[in-house]
Amino acid sequence: MKLSLPLDEFKKRRAHILKKLTKASPNAMAVIPGAQLQTRSRDTEFPFRQDSDFFYLTGFDEPNALLVLAPNADDPVQIYCQPTSPSEEVWHGRRLGVDNAADALGVDFAASIEDADDYLFALLDGAEQVFYPHDKPELAAQLSMIADELRAAPKKGHQAPTAWVDINPWLADMRIIKSAAELDLMRQAAAISVAAHKRAMRFAKPGKFEYQVAAEIHHEFAMHGALSAAYGTICGGGENACILHYTENKSELRDGDLLLIDAGAEFAGYAGDITRTFPVNGRFSAEQKALYNVVLAAQEAALATLKPGSDMAKAFEAAGDVLTTGLHELGILQGDARDLMENHAFRPFMIHGLGHWLGLDVHDVGTYTQAGKKRKFEPGMVLTIEPGIYIPTGTEGVDSKWHGIGIRIEDDVIITETGHENMTAKVPKTVEEIEQWMAG
Ligand code: GLY
Ligand code: MN
Ligand code: MN
Repeated sequence: MKLSLPLDEFKKRRAHILKKLTKASPNAMAVIPGAQLQTRSRDTEFPFRQDSDFFYLTGFDEPNALLVLAPNADDPVQIYCQPTSPSEEVWHGRRLGVDNAADALGVDFAASIEDADDYLFALLDGAEQVFYPHDKPELAAQLSMIADELRAAPKKGHQAPTAWVDINPWLADMRIIKSAAELDLMRQAAAISVAAHKRAMRFAKPGKFEYQVAAEIHHEFAMHGALSAAYGTICGGGENACILHYTENKSELRDGDLLLIDAGAEFAGYAGDITRTFPVNGRFSAEQKALYNVVLAAQEAALATLKPGSDMAKAFEAAGDVLTTGLHELGILQGDARDLMENHAFRPFMIHGLGHWLGLDVHDVGTYTQAGKKRKFEPGMVLTIEPGIYIPTGTEGVDSKWHGIGIRIEDDVIITETGHENMTAKVPKTVEEIEQWMAG
């Protein structure tokens, strides 16, 4: 089994949690479950995707596994995994197996997942604080059942845990800052996503279908080792671009419409997340161009704010001011320019956020506030900046010449020591760049 990152990186992450557990209470421990296969229909399953937290701590990509971190146990780092089974493996695929797991994953102890309850009974006995992800109800039920058994036998000297603590905030705080090795993987996810968007721009034409464009993108992903998209690919022609998470991708592309593509590769677990919007026939109409340039200017204004010490709210204000001014200048917003700006008058035309953390998950973990204040950017954070304007047909108070236009522009950015690095800048983005690339 090949890990996505050097073994030492996973060991360092686990050591960090072990240290925090030791500080939390004399007998604290943590349980972090891997993901299970999910039924698609009858006896078929969705492609397996490992739980991001479990993957972050182990690099182990099999279903049905469990990580235990118990600083006071003889073996502080324990993995429970599927045992080898020739009869299962011949149907469902190879397994790492218990005998190989300790060495391959660099843990102290490995056992079969089938025996996990017995081991957990002994580990939970006398553990005061048990940390586990509180968004995992199945694990909560499993741990609670074991705790019930411990409580039922006090005369045998058993002692059930008294505190159950959510481990998600610890993991989110770790995952929000990417290491140099993680940033390399994210640059690869970004580069693959860039190539796919460029190919899609050249492929799209009136008469093609949205799903055909999506197929081009997914083919490009796979040809570069990204076997999955990081989220449901969005290919929305015309009016469909106004549906923010449109993944149906079934319509025919029409001459004169824009096509909004929001697609990103998942590479070694890490997500790319790019949006570009371009004319199906290769030439922007006057209205499309005018609105597009407002969104582009808003994105550039937001990008310009990105540096250590700044925050998402500052980027949002910068983008919002440009969107409001632009919409006002085009006559879509009417009234006093200053009032409009103060009231975030652009809001009805962009109901989503300006961006989000990016990492193992497309909407990655990490809070946006800290101690009641906006969270400040630090080197190693990765985020998207994705302003948009959406004017669906029927929008009241807006001239019909603007109707049916949905535009979003999204790039993936690393906060560096001195500013930022836009990993996805190479997808054509200005009107001229897009028209030239499509004509080529
Ligand atoms: N693709 C989802 C997003 O951009 O947030
Ligand atoms: Mn996106
Ligand atoms: Mn995004």
